[in-house]
Amino acid sequence: MQDKNWLLAVILLFGVFFYLFICFAIDAQKILDVATELRGKAPSSKQPYHLVLIEQEQSHPYWQMVEKGALEAARQYGMEIEFNGPVRFSMEEQIKMLEKAIAAKVDGIIVQGLNDSKFSPVINRAIEKGIPVLTIDTDAPNSKRLTYVGTDNFEAGKQLGYAVVKATGGKGKIGVIIGSDTAENQILRLQGFQSIVDHYPDMTILSVKSSNISRIEAIQQAVDMLQKHPDMNIMVGTSALDGIGILQAKKSLGRNEVKIFGFDNLPEMLEAIQKGEIVATVSQKPYLMGYDSVRLLNDYLHHKSLPKEHYTQIAVMDKSNVTLE
Ligand code: BGC
Repeated sequence: MQDKNWLLAVILLFGVFFYLFICFAIDAQKILDVATELRGKAPSSKQPYHLVLIEQEQSHPYWQMVEKGALEAARQYGMEIEFNGPVRFSMEEQIKMLEKAIAAKVDGIIVQGLNDSKFSPVINRAIEKGIPVLTIDTDAPNSKRLTYVGTDNFEAGKQLGYAVVKATGGKGKIGVIIGSDTAENQILRLQGFQSIVDHYPDMTILSVKSSNISRIEAIQQAVDMLQKHPDMNIMVGTSALDGIGILQAKKSLGRNEVKIFGFDNLPEMLEAIQKGEIVATVSQKPYLMGYDSVRLLNDYLHHKSLPKEHYTQIAVMDKSNVTLE
């Protein structure tokens, strides 16, 4: 009888232990679930990289193409990108935006570099603070920027020169509208162009003026030049809206003999080439500049080394090969 009681007591004790063990296991699982949930809700240790791209001018059709490419790359690499730029082209504004990006401690800056003594020190300050800076479209070669992404502008100027020679036989009086006299890309394009013209004694550059990348100013400068120089029969524009502006000036003055050469591939430019109103353009790759600059910054942030220059392609388009893109 006593044995039976002992057995019952042992079974009971075992049952109690078993019950307690099950309760413990259930509670442990609950604690584990809560912990997992909490871990999921905690801010992820790796926020996406935040980049800033500073343009020459906001809402400019050329820079909108750059934005498209940069956005696409940012989407692909899981980065955030913010676009900034003065409402109206101003180097002082661009510098302020650069300073703001440095103060905000962004993870990377892509900026249209202006080769100016005021601009490069600000780029250098960003680099010294550990923020990688890439220049896009226009370089600041004396700064400590990591890479320049864009056209080889001296070469592009030469290509413009060859296009003019091909269409005119190397003879004519030329007017040049450049986008800006502070932007390195415009100065290099002009130098490249001049280097070709110099080989042709019957070609002369009569005047060079800046449009400040504005179509209206390009029209005004072109009207002014054509009125001052009745013998001017070739006009070239070295930024996106210059050729189109020159065309309007030529039409308004009825100067049909003037042959126009431009830059970039905005739809209006391509249409004008198709109609034979503009002879040729040197087309750049703004979408690719945007895309590649973000791609390279992503490489850098993942510890890959960068080239000093990353040149994007150019192509001369005339009536024989123009396609509306
Ligand atoms: C140049 C840019 C400029 C744009 C707008 C392009 O040809 O590469 O620097 O902002 O034209 O005029």
